[in-house]
Amino acid sequence: MEVNYMEESRTELLRQIKNEVINLKESSLYKFRIENKVFPVIGEGSHEAEIMFIGEAPGKNEAATGRPFCGAAGRVLTELIESIGLNRKEVYITNIVKDRPPDNRDPLPEEIRIYSPFLDRQIDIIQPKIIATLGRYSMAYVMEKFSLQNELKSISQIHGKVFDAKASYGEIKVIPLYHPAVALYQNSLKEQMFKDFKVIKSFYGK
Ligand code: URA
Repeated sequence: MEVNYMEESRTELLRQIKNEVINLKESSLYKFRIENKVFPVIGEGSHEAEIMFIGEAPGKNEAATGRPFCGAAGRVLTELIESIGLNRKEVYITNIVKDRPPDNRDPLPEEIRIYSPFLDRQIDIIQPKIIATLGRYSMAYVMEKFSLQNELKSISQIHGKVFDAKASYGEIKVIPLYHPAVALYQNSLKEQMFKDFKVIKSFYGK
């Protein structure tokens, strides 16, 4: 049987990240996780994915299961992914912050500072050609990381636009998208979100 060593080492490197996050006692969210007997959410999908989706932080359902985007917003994300002929197993889905902030509040700058090095490593291990950010926090983090800070505007101005960037492993496209939860409280934007996903499809496989 042929063994894909590359895939095996990616899996091992991602497992190391998981172990480090599990033991991340210096995060203020660690205590909340232990007290509530919930899980960190590292990421899910193909370790050789061409597209990586990056959300903000786990919510209640995600922390209860350890899986990203598995609640109501996750159902919207799955629908959007499937609308362009892909499925969740072919892409990689993660967040900047790996533990759930209490009361589903927005992530704090300190939390982004503590958890983002894990995201940086996930990007370098998986080496996606397309990074699609979900919501304004991951948009701001990823655009600054890839020196696109001068292009950074409000998400309503740059959703669905494509930015060329250089990762440590080669050229990539960064595509800011609305957070899928937006469709739950602003149904009028849903059509636009489907259009934005078509942009991803136009670069997939190139
Ligand atoms: N919202 C996020 O940003 N990430 C999840 O995993 C779930 C909801």
